[in-house]
Amino acid sequence: MMDKEITDDLIIKILEAGSWAPSGLNNQPWRFIIVKNPKIKKDLADCTKYGKIIKNAPVLIAVFFDQNKGYNRTKDMQAIGACIQNMLISIHAFNLGAVWLGEILNQREQVEKILAVPNSFELQAVLAIGHPTEAEKKNTSSRISLEKITWREKYGNSL
Ligand SMILES: Cc1cc2nc3c(=O)[nH]c(=O)nc-3n(C[C@H](O)[C@H](O)[C@H](O)COP(=O)(O)O)c2cc1C
Repeated sequence: MMDKEITDDLIIKILEAGSWAPSGLNNQPWRFIIVKNPKIKKDLADCTKYGKIIKNAPVLIAVFFDQNKGYNRTKDMQAIGACIQNMLISIHAFNLGAVWLGEILNQREQVEKILAVPNSFELQAVLAIGHPTEAEKKNTSSRISLEKITWREKYGNSL
């Protein structure tokens, strides 16, 4: 069966979910570029060792921090993390999948050039969005147990 097209309507809903993230002073420092064009995707794919993921994804969302809108680096980064996570949850709710690509930041300047963003835009991540295969849906992941990372009242008192 053909995968359902990821329509602009759907992409807008995903971006809306991102833009409803909280931010310090409600400064909303995130900016987005939607990429579907195969030539631009190919150029971006050449910027990361995860290029295959980029090429296989029908839609990319590049997420930027607009330094002109920032007021506190830590809080601005936290807000953008929340924005990205909101989008991941929304993508999952639409039965799609996404990979948060951070390795591509090693070629941040190249990506910024390809996407022709203003100087104040600093790349934060690229989300590669697509239809997860049955195998990918079954992919398992793991986390450190809470006992190892949580204490009661003061550090040292175990959970
Ligand atoms: C800041 C950040 C950068 C990441 N960069 C990459 C990346 O470049 N390539 C990739 O395949 N996954 C990347 N990931 C996904 C993580 O590898 C993944 O979340 C982690 O291994 C846990 O797997 P899970 O989220 O499927 O449980 C990144 C995640 C975050 C939060």
